Amino acid sequence: MTTPRQATAVAPSNIALVKYWGKRDLDLNLPATGSISVTLDTLRTRTSVSFEPALEQDDFRLNGEDAPAHAARVTRFLDLVRRTYGVGEHARVETANDFPTGAGLASSASGFAALAVACDAALDLGLTTEQLSVLARRGSGSAARSLIGGFAEMQPGVAADGSDAFATALAAPEHLPLRVLVAVTTRAAKSIGSTEGMQRTEATSPFYGAWVAATRADLDAMRAALAAGDLERVGVIAERNCLRMHATMLGADPGLLYWNAATVDVMQAVRLLRESGVGAWFTIDAGPQVKVLCAASDEARVAQRLADLDGVVDILAAGPGAGARIVEDDALPKEQA
Ligand code: PMV
Repeated sequence: MTTPRQATAVAPSNIALVKYWGKRDLDLNLPATGSISVTLDTLRTRTSVSFEPALEQDDFRLNGEDAPAHAARVTRFLDLVRRTYGVGEHARVETANDFPTGAGLASSASGFAALAVACDAALDLGLTTEQLSVLARRGSGSAARSLIGGFAEMQPGVAADGSDAFATALAAPEHLPLRVLVAVTTRAAKSIGSTEGMQRTEATSPFYGAWVAATRADLDAMRAALAAGDLERVGVIAERNCLRMHATMLGADPGLLYWNAATVDVMQAVRLLRESGVGAWFTIDAGPQVKVLCAASDEARVAQRLADLDGVVDILAAGPGAGARIVEDDALPKEQA
């Protein structure tokens, strides 16, 4: 082998505007419903992967340090790549996030999208964007959407092998002047991971069937709102879909409560902002951070209101951005203070 089997990719996070919470197949990580997201221009992961014959096992480093808590999941993904594409070597994987680590911000979407794209290039697999999205999905359902820039829709697919469960583009980043302010309410890692939370919800929440039906309707409504470029409709649907997801989780046994007091304070503050005439809407994933959606013209006012809240420890700002891609330079991004 003369050419090094090495590549570096950058992938962004994405925020679901209509969420995915439930799987139709656990092993293949197939979602029960579709989802719609906005891919962000900040909160990125940069991953370098190098397949090396001399390695006896995979070597994974996160922000320059060993990360045993994540290594098993990365190796599971690399095993899938090796099995599927007939690769023998183990890999050295160096990954870094350009957002503060330990902030309780999910990095699996950007992480597995970057890893999928880097593996494809390192091994010269020549996968299409759809195939890359299918591959990233095996690492994390939300990662399938980070392949696509701007606004993306995840297709749940119907095929038993999951080959039609990938994300497609709905609109380019500049389609909507949307800003996303992430109000960080704690730096502690989340307690219950999404797969375990989804399984518990499916098995025990009496509201799960209603959630699936409501999500399908919200997907139709969100697609129409995005096509019309109607930010207010997008915000209204995103907020209601988030509350429906959390209501369903709360109905599990035992109930899944991902919020803290500051999470609720931010939700109340966003609603008060709306009462005062400022367009702002919240959405929350399986954790205590609140993502606030607003127009670029209202960003300063919304950010100031969030910064005034006692429980908000940090605010990260983002807008719609490009999807995962290969980068030539393999320098790792500097972590923000
Ligand atoms: O695919 P995961 O494991 O990152 O789960 C995503 C779950 C939510 O963030 C709550 C919703 C979503 O669609 O991103």
